[in-house]
Amino acid sequence: MTVKTRLASLHKQVDRALDRWLPSEKTKPASLHRAMRYAVFGGGKRLRPVLCLAAAEACGGKISEAMAAACAVECVHTYSLIHDDLPCMDDDDLRRGRLTTHKVFGEAVAVLAGDALLTVAFEILARTHKTKRYDAGDLVAELARAAGSLFLVGGQVADMEAENRLTKPEELVFIHRGKTAAMVAASLRLGAMTANAKTAKVEAIGKFGESLGLAFQIVDDILDITQTSEQLGKSAGKDAAAGKATYPAVFGIEKSRREAARLTKAARKALEPFGKKADFLHAIADQLLGREN
Ligand code: IPE
Ligand code: IPE
Ligand code: MG
Ligand code: MG
Ligand code: MG
Repeated sequence: MTVKTRLASLHKQVDRALDRWLPSEKTKPASLHRAMRYAVFGGGKRLRPVLCLAAAEACGGKISEAMAAACAVECVHTYSLIHDDLPCMDDDDLRRGRLTTHKVFGEAVAVLAGDALLTVAFEILARTHKTKRYDAGDLVAELARAAGSLFLVGGQVADMEAENRLTKPEELVFIHRGKTAAMVAASLRLGAMTANAKTAKVEAIGKFGESLGLAFQIVDDILDITQTSEQLGKSAGKDAAAGKATYPAVFGIEKSRREAARLTKAARKALEPFGKKADFLHAIADQLLGREN
């Protein structure tokens, strides 16, 4: 199977599982459940859940055992996008190729749909079978840490507070690690944990995710400049307009490209302990570096 067909197949499996976990559109209050489903099923690359499943596989585990964790990370990610797009944050009208959730359902329902996705993520994750080394509590703590004030939420705050002022390189790394890399790393670590991987393997795959996540956000920043809104499915050119602290803003596009390539190489090096079992993860890392949306 080619990497592309493999990715498409996992994407589909994740969507099917998400469809089973999320309350139907008819469930009361219908506006809330429609908004949740609108945000989740409106496209998206499903990168984090796919990484979670691929990590489980690289550690000798089963896709089916990692599926709840994969759905959980996508729910947290989607909530973070809904809130990221709100007028009080990045104020975006376009996401995943269509109007943002708050544009369609109003701000209050969008905020609450985000809240509900964040909460349901932990309900889903808590259903994971325990392994010899890890129980549901370990998984919940892992996701909560990445999604909380030290990382995702903290990174979003630092991102806002860095607007329209000179940002030091280490501050930029702090922002990117928090808002993006931590969730990418946690997705992989969770997948490994569902496969009962030893601590050393969980750490190695987390390191891969940390560098991959940083590279991913640098590429996101570059694409905001080089692509059109149609290509991205979200409004292009917004970072410069909002005075965001991005890699291209601080270092220029060429240096940013080199840094993304360097980080991808570092990420792949962290996969050494996995040998050929990590072939698919290597392929994903390569693909992300060259992505166009
Ligand atoms: C967008 O993430 C937010 C960032 C961390 C850059 P993705 O680019 O993974 O968004 P979707 O899930 O494919 O829509
Ligand atoms: C947002 O980063 C990261 C999170 C959603 C946590 P961006 O603000 O750069 O993401 P986009 O470009 O809107 O997808
Ligand atoms: Mg943002
Ligand atoms: Mg944004
Ligand atoms: Mg961006």
